[in-house]
Amino acid sequence: MVSIKDVASHAGVSVATVSRVLNAKGYVSEDTRKKVEQAIDELNYKPNEVARSLFKKQSKTIGLIVPDITNPYFPELARAVEDTAAKLGYTVILCNSDGKIQKEQHYMDVLMQKYVDGIILSSDTLSDEQIKALHIPVVSIDREISKDIPTIVVENKKGAKLATQFLQQKGRKRIAHIRGPVHIVNANERCEGYQEVVGNEQWFNESYIVNGHFEMDAAIEATIELLQRHPEIDGIFAANDTMAIGAIKAVHKLGKRTPEDIAIIGFDGISLSKATIPELTTIEQPIYTMGEKAAAMLIEFIEEKPIAETFYRLDVQLVERESS
Ligand code: RIB
Repeated sequence: MVSIKDVASHAGVSVATVSRVLNAKGYVSEDTRKKVEQAIDELNYKPNEVARSLFKKQSKTIGLIVPDITNPYFPELARAVEDTAAKLGYTVILCNSDGKIQKEQHYMDVLMQKYVDGIILSSDTLSDEQIKALHIPVVSIDREISKDIPTIVVENKKGAKLATQFLQQKGRKRIAHIRGPVHIVNANERCEGYQEVVGNEQWFNESYIVNGHFEMDAAIEATIELLQRHPEIDGIFAANDTMAIGAIKAVHKLGKRTPEDIAIIGFDGISLSKATIPELTTIEQPIYTMGEKAAAMLIEFIEEKPIAETFYRLDVQLVERESS
């Protein structure tokens, strides 16, 4: 394989001069530049990207750290990040943190060693200080860390209120909530939205709120226990679609019907929500737009372009299907 040294000796210049030409940095006379370019052509030299990143301390690569790509929300987000990054000339390295601080820190170290130019992060454990200490651009997506970090999130509380009110409008009198993990900001905002709507009803009882940890199996188990304890429940708002799908399954397992006995509404608007029987009513997040905006904003930071707004709370909308 042709190396930078071969190019240098073919052109009769030093390796440093070839580097200057390749990286368009530092003075090189017009004559020398032509000689180097000719040597590159004649030898068909392809600059080594790793060597270039070591030299320039940048790589046209960004990191994307998500909790778990097997959660169907995150591939949709990742696809948008990748499409946008590719259009702008960047590649994406994907890391799954499992929501664990040790893995998040490990991946941040690894990404820094690979000279990524910036990171998009969906984290509920990292602090403002840890992120600022990286000294590279970071955009937080889906999960808010601090108002000082560029962020793309959605109207979680508003969406939860819409969902709960919608079940009320459908005549449901005992509405339960399957919430997400207690340490995740968006799960708390969705739970608060639910409580704002039904928390003062005389029938309301804290045990109408159960934790499904944003996972299908946990949600199936939690829904079965909930409905066995409270057979009067006739509506469920689940804080994500994966748990809502779990709730539909639990209702079926108990020999009840959705929506006739129990109406169910989710949150996210993932593609899978259209594949269930019955199809899922949900609060749709603009998932693709979020990924697009995060990647575009991160790259604007990397390229030091002017940025008008750095904190986005995007709107959500109710999509009515069959489960309610
Ligand atoms: O399904 C995963 C959930 O985690 C989504 O609701 C999303 O908002 C994320 O935080």
